Amino acid sequence: MHLAGLAPNLSDVTRVRLSLLTLVPLLIGCTSARARADEADRIAAVLQLRVGSIVADVGAGEGEWSEILARSVGPTGHVYATEVKSHLVEEIGERLRDASLTNFTTVEGDQERTGLPAECCDAILLRMVYHHFERPELMRADLWRALRPGGLIAMVDIVPQKNWRQLDNVPDRGGHGIPVDDLITELTASGLQLVEHLEDWNGEEDRYCLVFRKPST
Ligand SMILES: C[S@@+](CC[C@H](N)C(=O)[O-])C[C@H]1O[C@@H](n2cnc3c(N)ncnc32)[C@H](O)[C@@H]1O
Repeated sequence: MHLAGLAPNLSDVTRVRLSLLTLVPLLIGCTSARARADEADRIAAVLQLRVGSIVADVGAGEGEWSEILARSVGPTGHVYATEVKSHLVEEIGERLRDASLTNFTTVEGDQERTGLPAECCDAILLRMVYHHFERPELMRADLWRALRPGGLIAMVDIVPQKNWRQLDNVPDRGGHGIPVDDLITELTASGLQLVEHLEDWNGEEDRYCLVFRKPST
């Protein structure tokens, strides 16, 4: 950017500051795009996604990861994007349609059910979602029902953060998040087998990813 031509009366120091103000957000944007792409690769690997896979993004938020998943599984695959907030269900649909994707279904769930069909999924992603569940025991049973035998669930989560906002109506786990051992205990008690425990997810020491398999019958 040639600020000298655009603003000839500015001092060199001011021009350098303005250039940095323009460049820093661009550099941060590139870094976060790179980090997102790296995480997307890791999620696809742990869930063993391939073209044609059927995957659910439970608690999809604004649909960023549903969009990434829909691209990775391709037109012969399918993504179920679930949310409890109806405005987010709408937004996710718009986002994926705007991205010219058609291989998805949006689903409005609640705190007791995902809304997913029985044994619909080869794989299920819960990214920063499990600790938001108000009735985790019911959600676990419903996740089990939605996963096909042999299917995988990846849970990206965080150890309890005392300084984050307190969530209403969730079990008290000492902060916003869930200790990794609690998550392992709860999921394995419901019959899932732990297949992978990845620490320092995204290079952040408080984040982790646990991968579970529903046993084949
Ligand atoms: C921290 S956000 C994570 C969003 C997204 N997974 C991501 O990684 O960007 C947690 C989301 O879980 C949703 N949520 C909470 N309880 C849920 C439930 N029982 N079923 C589905 N979604 C739920 C919330 O509405 C919220 O959008």
